Amino acid sequence: MSSTTSIHGMWSSRLAFILAATGSAVGLGNIWRFPYTAGEYGGGAFVLVYLLCVAAIGLPIMMAEIMIGRRGRQSPINTMRALARDEGVSPLWQLLGWMGILAGFLILSFYSVIAGWTLGYVFRAGSGQFAGADAGAAEAMFNALVADPERLLAWHTIFMTMTTLVVARGVASGLERAVRWLMPALFVLLVVMVLYAAQAGDFAGGLEYLFYPDFAELGAHPGEAVLSAMGQAFFSLSLGMGAIMIYGSYLNSRASIGQNAVIIAAMDTLVALLAGMAIFPIVLANGLEPGSGPGLIFQTLPIAFGQMPGGLLFGTVFFVLLVFAAWTSAISLLEPMVAWLVENRGFSRPRAAALGGMVVWLLGIACLLSLNVWSEITVFGKGFLDLFDYVTANVLLPLGGVFIAIFAGWVMRRASTEDELGLRSDGFAYRVWRVLVRFVAPVGVVVVFLHAIGLF
Ligand code: PFF
Repeated sequence: MSSTTSIHGMWSSRLAFILAATGSAVGLGNIWRFPYTAGEYGGGAFVLVYLLCVAAIGLPIMMAEIMIGRRGRQSPINTMRALARDEGVSPLWQLLGWMGILAGFLILSFYSVIAGWTLGYVFRAGSGQFAGADAGAAEAMFNALVADPERLLAWHTIFMTMTTLVVARGVASGLERAVRWLMPALFVLLVVMVLYAAQAGDFAGGLEYLFYPDFAELGAHPGEAVLSAMGQAFFSLSLGMGAIMIYGSYLNSRASIGQNAVIIAAMDTLVALLAGMAIFPIVLANGLEPGSGPGLIFQTLPIAFGQMPGGLLFGTVFFVLLVFAAWTSAISLLEPMVAWLVENRGFSRPRAAALGGMVVWLLGIACLLSLNVWSEITVFGKGFLDLFDYVTANVLLPLGGVFIAIFAGWVMRRASTEDELGLRSDGFAYRVWRVLVRFVAPVGVVVVFLHAIGLF
């Protein structure tokens, strides 16, 4: 049935796939979004729920997504159509692919704006603007950037151009090389930041904040907090929209899906926890507000870099690496729609990438204007950037995840999944996966949804 290669190219090795998928997972979601979301919901209890969601919902869905992608070997839309045909079910399953494309557009449009902040901070760090910054100065610097639509537009345009160029060249060629060096470097620098926070910040307080689960902290809206923890897990692991699915479609048929998924999820989680351990000690020691929202790391890290020895260098390198981490994630957000344009519309890759990138760029302008000149325009009380962030992470990705789980657990024949996962059907690993993907993941997501909208 399925072919053994994709027309879009293949990863050169299993390691290349792990690096690329980790490059997709590790990004602004870990370093920008995880700390501020954890801060908004009070820390420890949120983090615990988050970890549970990664293990019980995220991991089995990641395996399912890689498995479906590798079996279909096409863009998510065509993969779903092909597998639905093989399994003798309705072609409507391809809607899952369309929903993923929509989520990809929306996520990338605001993701690029935040990546633009990061680009702007490379230059602020490099020109010594953090020197001696206290909480007030760091906040003023951030507010000035966000209030300036022209600057935001310039950075957003540069970042979208970078993303479009890589996707136009083909994912495997540039990406593999970049991720191999930059991911480990980012990791080392995060460890350095944690060591600095341990010595200059309120480390004990920061660790307690992150790891001591006090359920009263989930606050007045626990349903909302749990939904956000689950949404963060989907967002951070790049699940529910076809990014990991399309990366799976470039993976050779022999690699073990379970093992790879565990490695990717573990690295992603480690990076998020390290980011939290680097940031909260500084937040607490400087009297900053953990729940201050999306500006959190941009108001916290300059204080640390401004005071630490060698901060000019560390700060610059840190933001450069964060740009790379965002870049490798952004590429995976654009790839599914580009692959579809190539398959179904006969576009060349560069043309497809340019078209997709252009649409995202336009949507991104609405996001960056919502931070300043359009700040009065709100939908459900949120500006476009916040709205796209909220709706994708907390609704579209988990919904996509449920359908992926149902397809893998209930629609695909047992023999197909066994064969593709390369697991023995009577083995422990396969049985655990099957229970998680059939029952725990879909029921978990639905229960969290219903709880959040206050049904019980
Ligand atoms: N996982 C990325 C991050 O944590 O920054 C963001 C992301 C990439 C989300 C790809 C969804 C996706 F499909």
